[in-house]
Amino acid sequence: MSNDFLAVNNLTVHHGQLCAVDDVSFSVQRGEVFAMIGANGAGKSTLMRTIAGLQKLTSGSISFKGQEISLMPPHKRVKFGVSLVPEGRRLFSSMTLEENLQVGEFKSNKGPFNIHRIYELFPWMPDRRRQLAWQFSGGEQQSIALGRALLTNPELLLIDELSLGLAPIVIEKIYALIPEIVKEGLSVMIVEQDVAQGVGVASRVHCLLEGRTSLSGVPADLTSEAIERAYFGADLNSTKDH
Ligand SMILES: Nc1ncnc2c1ncn2[C@@H]1O[C@H](COP(=O)(O)OP(=O)(O)OP(=O)(O)O)[C@@H](O)[C@H]1O
Ligand SMILES: [Mg+2]
Repeated sequence: MSNDFLAVNNLTVHHGQLCAVDDVSFSVQRGEVFAMIGANGAGKSTLMRTIAGLQKLTSGSISFKGQEISLMPPHKRVKFGVSLVPEGRRLFSSMTLEENLQVGEFKSNKGPFNIHRIYELFPWMPDRRRQLAWQFSGGEQQSIALGRALLTNPELLLIDELSLGLAPIVIEKIYALIPEIVKEGLSVMIVEQDVAQGVGVASRVHCLLEGRTSLSGVPADLTSEAIERAYFGADLNSTKDH
């Protein structure tokens, strides 16, 4: 039995015939920010959804706090401390900001996050709490999705594509909250297509290429060439000139 906070071992996940995650292993430690990077279709969302219990695995294991969770239903994983900010935010668009947050609060574990704490993190929220979710900008919606996940008081927060479709200034602001979140004792696993962002915030980085691990390490040890090769594939130089 491993002492890892989250241990993913030899995980393989299929969508029908397609192998989206192929024999992937890694671990996340308590209190760290772990970045999973990779190009379009690399299998990042499939992997995150599998950890959250929204996607069935083909083989392998996922253990969290020393317990095998790969057969645990998603709502039980939330109770056990795993929460996902899904790709594309997935807010309830015809519900208000506050009602969307209450969805997270409803499933809450004991912990530091309540609505007041979320309103402290996002001071623009209280005045607009009765506005409908679809009326917010992409960055605001991402913040609401993040707030909703935090309100479950997870120990492991999974964030799928924090920066997708957002303006750089907005991305910077949301990224600035990650250290605040970690300070509260959470571990964060973040999926990023924006490599610089992912590598910048993480203590460890793992790269997927067509479902397989192509690189894994500590940012300081990784050259940008090695990351680029792992991200785009070994034949990068032969395709670059075309
Ligand atoms: N529900 C699904 N049914 C069938 N195939 C799927 C499904 N979801 C994903 N796939 C396929 O699985 C592979 C991995 O997709 P996935 O969404 O996990 O990648 P990703 O790394 O998150 O990509 P992106 O950066 O575009 O979000 C892709 O080939 C994709 O087309
Ligand atoms: Mg994805």
